[in-house]
Amino acid sequence: SSPNRDRSQYILVVGGLGYIGSHTSLELLRAGYNVVIVDNLYNSYLSTLERIKMLRDEHYQTRLWSPSIDFHQADYRDEHAMSYILNSYRVERSGSTIKGVIHFAAHKAVSESIQQPLRYYSNNVTGIVSFCSLLDRFQIKTLIFSSSAAVYGAITPKSGRISENHCLHETREWIDDAGNVQITQGGCTAITNPYGRSKWMCEAILNDLAISDPEWSIVALRYFNPIGCDASGKLGENPRMEPSNLMPSLMRAMSGQTPHLKVFGTDWETRDGSAVRDFIHVSDLALGHIAALEAVSGSRLQSGFHTYNLGTGFGQSVKEMVSAMQACSGRTICTKEVPRREGDVGTVVADPTRAATELGWKTEKSIEDCCEDLCRLF
Ligand code: NAD
Ligand code: WQD
Repeated sequence: SSPNRDRSQYILVVGGLGYIGSHTSLELLRAGYNVVIVDNLYNSYLSTLERIKMLRDEHYQTRLWSPSIDFHQADYRDEHAMSYILNSYRVERSGSTIKGVIHFAAHKAVSESIQQPLRYYSNNVTGIVSFCSLLDRFQIKTLIFSSSAAVYGAITPKSGRISENHCLHETREWIDDAGNVQITQGGCTAITNPYGRSKWMCEAILNDLAISDPEWSIVALRYFNPIGCDASGKLGENPRMEPSNLMPSLMRAMSGQTPHLKVFGTDWETRDGSAVRDFIHVSDLALGHIAALEAVSGSRLQSGFHTYNLGTGFGQSVKEMVSAMQACSGRTICTKEVPRREGDVGTVVADPTRAATELGWKTEKSIEDCCEDLCRLF
């Protein structure tokens, strides 16, 4: 990955100090992109910026040039602040030196979204409307958006893997793997919570925007279950808010911060009764953003609105994840089997074919890699 990119150009990463944003910013730097991060530090710390810089410097230590990273603390909904920031990257005649935007800034806790839907719709949905209007004014029309498998809600296709066609923004016929004609209604009827609906709404808005103006290139990446950390063990997941996802909870039980890991539901129709998910290494996920950026900037993808699943295509059960982490760490993780968590589904696994075909991207790392990298954090 030699840095042969235009050295005067930047990628704006909104929410770039969070878990996925920080790993993506680091991979962008390693690939030779200059990065501008905007984050309000709602769920992240400034110390993450120092870690990203340190890992950039380690990567470029023997080279004459290394890409830059700028940071602006701002709420991306603050039009005044964002306008000021975008202005500072504006150049006469050729527009902006910001060539693409990756948008991560959002609230992401499913149960909290049920308690406080307005906060979720404000940060996740209203925010994107005003932000895109601003980008439009600055003639920045390349956007990669963090979507989620949450847009599929409770859909579990017979094949076991969910393709992008199960959530569409217009009613359409398509052919499934078995050669059968399927019809998906444009809508969000299967979604089970406000968080998932907020992601679907953003996608719908971005789809309308791309239809209205063919200069926009927008990619919504539907992440499955991101886990792991940078292989250096020097950058991980460091949220301010209490995490509710499986791996941070498992790590807490492993380190003795909590007495045990609760296993939510052991009566699912799966091989061991615990729920199955498509766990994807966060660095693979980060590289998916670079593949998307390169596809929209090159000739691989036409302008418009595109959706891609980012997952491995394989499912692991909650109990298998506990075993994998125990085997890797040599520690015992106490577990307690409890009833199903409200709103959960049994199996969620991606069909990642479209991303492989159209973006030339697939995952490289295994569950063992995820566990080994996480163990390096200790
Ligand atoms: P995160 O909370 O670690 O990162 C989000 C970052 O955005 C944080 O640094 C936070 O401070 C910042 N932020 C939030 N609101 C902001 C605002 N108004 N202005 C500026 N900055 C703001 O979350 P993450 O896990 O890195 O998720 C990133 C994105 O990916 C989110 O959009 C999330 O919905 C989506 N996503 C996450 C997962 C997951 O399991 N982690 C799965 C699918 C989709
Ligand atoms: C995975 C499995 C739990 C914690 C959510 C969002 C999704 C995406 C990823 C943002 C489930 C079980 C968990 C615990 C457990 N986020 N579990 N004990 O629910 O698949 O997806 O995060 O976009 O949209 O819905 O992820 O990590 O919370 O749970 O047994 O302490 O682990 O019940 O079966 P989930 P998760």
